[in-house]
Amino acid sequence: VAAERGGYPHFMLKEIYEQPRAIRDTLTGRIADDLSRVTLPELSWSDDFVQSMDRVHIVACGTSWHAGLVGKAVMEKLTRIPVDVEIASEYRYRDPIETAGTLVIVISQSGETLDTLAALRDAKARGRHVLAITNVVGSSVAREADDVIITWAGPEIAVASTKAYTTQLVVLYLLAVYLGQRRGTLEDGTAKQILAALAELPMAAEQVLDTAPQVERFAREWADARDTFFIGRGIDYAMALEGALKLKEISYIHAEAYAAGELKHGTLALITEGVPVIALATQTDLYEKTLSNIKEVKARDAFVLGVTFAGDEEMRHSVDEVLYVPRTLPVLAPVITVIPLQLLAYYAAVARGNDVDKPRNLAKSVTVE
Ligand code: G6P
Repeated sequence: VAAERGGYPHFMLKEIYEQPRAIRDTLTGRIADDLSRVTLPELSWSDDFVQSMDRVHIVACGTSWHAGLVGKAVMEKLTRIPVDVEIASEYRYRDPIETAGTLVIVISQSGETLDTLAALRDAKARGRHVLAITNVVGSSVAREADDVIITWAGPEIAVASTKAYTTQLVVLYLLAVYLGQRRGTLEDGTAKQILAALAELPMAAEQVLDTAPQVERFAREWADARDTFFIGRGIDYAMALEGALKLKEISYIHAEAYAAGELKHGTLALITEGVPVIALATQTDLYEKTLSNIKEVKARDAFVLGVTFAGDEEMRHSVDEVLYVPRTLPVLAPVITVIPLQLLAYYAAVARGNDVDKPRNLAKSVTVE
């Protein structure tokens, strides 16, 4: 096993460090050399099919569901198709409103999660077209869906998902650009800008790994915390949810994610002196709003770690510490900001002496209801 870990103490750390490679592999062959368009030969979608798409339902569990939340924001922005993101175990037992033009996208790293698979089967039985995004070629989800896009993360062993998540995001970006271009809602210039930034993500992911020593120091300081809070707006809120889940899963520290503007409606009562708050502020259009939420928690003496793009000097004045990530387009920020959050969970779990790769009560693939 030590050899399989390739010199890393845990699979999770190995998989975190594999992300630049996994992102690169997932992009390879899918962006035209001149950055003008996305090629997804696995989708043989006719113009009629693409034009008649009037709704998207993304269905998934756990971390894959969190990828879906980012997918919604991006797809709605670039394609103007309304997107709902559903937890598979909820979707199965309600009566979703669908049209003949509803595309169902299931996201599953393993391709074997029972609730997701059952949701796929139900959707197909209702006559829906189902696209699967999965990391396992030949998995049940891959076999049963109408179309499949593979994330080339490679085998993920640690229970807490890392490289599968970042590659799911990459596929969702590619799909959003692909649909936006084919439907004519995305201008060529904007598409090119996004594709150029996507092509640079492996390098940015490599750079953000340099924050590991700083993150490890935080993790050690916070290893005894009872409660922690992750806040953000827009897609930073989706990141907050993923960061909090990672921390809970493997460090067992209570972590709550909150849409920053919603804090004042209850959760602010839990913010007291020294409580760790991780504030994500990568979304330019929401920056000032998030900053004012950060001031609200600072006024209650929370300890705030701000996460933002390199070069943002303003943040320093409002928080206790800043964690800088390499600058990319705000819409692509999740791929980069999640990496220090994964490292935070990892180092906190190590500091607490937990079984990082096999956390208590959890399984890698949940094939029961
Ligand atoms: C389990 C794993 C999570 C994963 C979820 C969904 O709970 O511990 O890491 O996100 O299942 O798994 P899937 O394979 O469907 O993406």
